[in-house]
Amino acid sequence: MNLTGKCVVVSGAASGIGRATALLLAAEGAKVALLDIKSDDIETVAKTIWDGGGTALSLAVDVTHAAEVKGAVAKVLAAFGQIDILVNSAGAGWRQSTPFKDLPEGTWEWILDVNVKGTLNLVQAVLGNMVERRTGKIVNLASIAASVGIPGLAVYSASKGAIVSFTKALAMELGPSNINVNCISPGLIESQERLAKTAGNFLERKGKPSEVAELIAFLVSDHASYITGAEFLIDGGRVLGPRGA
Ligand SMILES: NC(=O)c1ccc[n+]([C@@H]2O[C@H](COP(=O)([O-])OP(=O)(O)OC[C@H]3O[C@@H](n4cnc5c(N)ncnc54)[C@H](O)[C@@H]3O)[C@@H](O)[C@H]2O)c1
Repeated sequence: MNLTGKCVVVSGAASGIGRATALLLAAEGAKVALLDIKSDDIETVAKTIWDGGGTALSLAVDVTHAAEVKGAVAKVLAAFGQIDILVNSAGAGWRQSTPFKDLPEGTWEWILDVNVKGTLNLVQAVLGNMVERRTGKIVNLASIAASVGIPGLAVYSASKGAIVSFTKALAMELGPSNINVNCISPGLIESQERLAKTAGNFLERKGKPSEVAELIAFLVSDHASYITGAEFLIDGGRVLGPRGA
């Protein structure tokens, strides 16, 4: 996947899928802006990219704050001159399973803020440049929780359902501007330590962040130019049905 000359923004780039995506896209030749609330960790990822001969810019940002996000995107445009690709991987709210009746309002507001508002903030901040240049690829991280729901993670499931429908509607709005918008719904990935005991799928293992990054790299490449408004499951067959039935 040759991404030479492409300028990328990856949120949640300090860890897991976002980190693996940032490293892979940089290795494919893209200049990568790393956004995350964990400032030390994105510095480390940026250093790894620079040490490998790539170009990276680390920006400590809380994606729930629209003004911070706009400021960060302005810095990316000042440094790179354009934004071709946005990967929304910042996410929260799946590490603790709690019945919805016991979930404090502040916790569910936080889950919706990071997963939904954070994604919306970043998309809105980059769109001006993409629409003006009539080019762009956006990939949002949803979850299998969007389609099957996960008990104990009701608000997380709802937030990811919002991402899937947002992705589809946005793809319809932005198609005429030559911007592709897709989402990826992972099952259990290794960065998710809460459910470490079993993968619960037909491949009988958890996925690797790098395996999700490979799918993202394809979707943001020229090889995926006719794909938009799609949701891609990457879950080892987890949602196919009961094992052994
Ligand atoms: N890991 C899984 O099993 C799994 C499964 C389905 C979906 N997903 C989704 O994939 C995405 C990436 O997951 P991951 O496993 O890499 O998680 P992760 O926890 O390893 O990475 C998420 C990153 O988002 C950052 N983040 C959280 N809140 C933020 C905020 N307010 N502002 C900026 N950054 C913030 C965190 O600091 C972290 O670096 C998430 O959207 C998640 O919901 C993950």
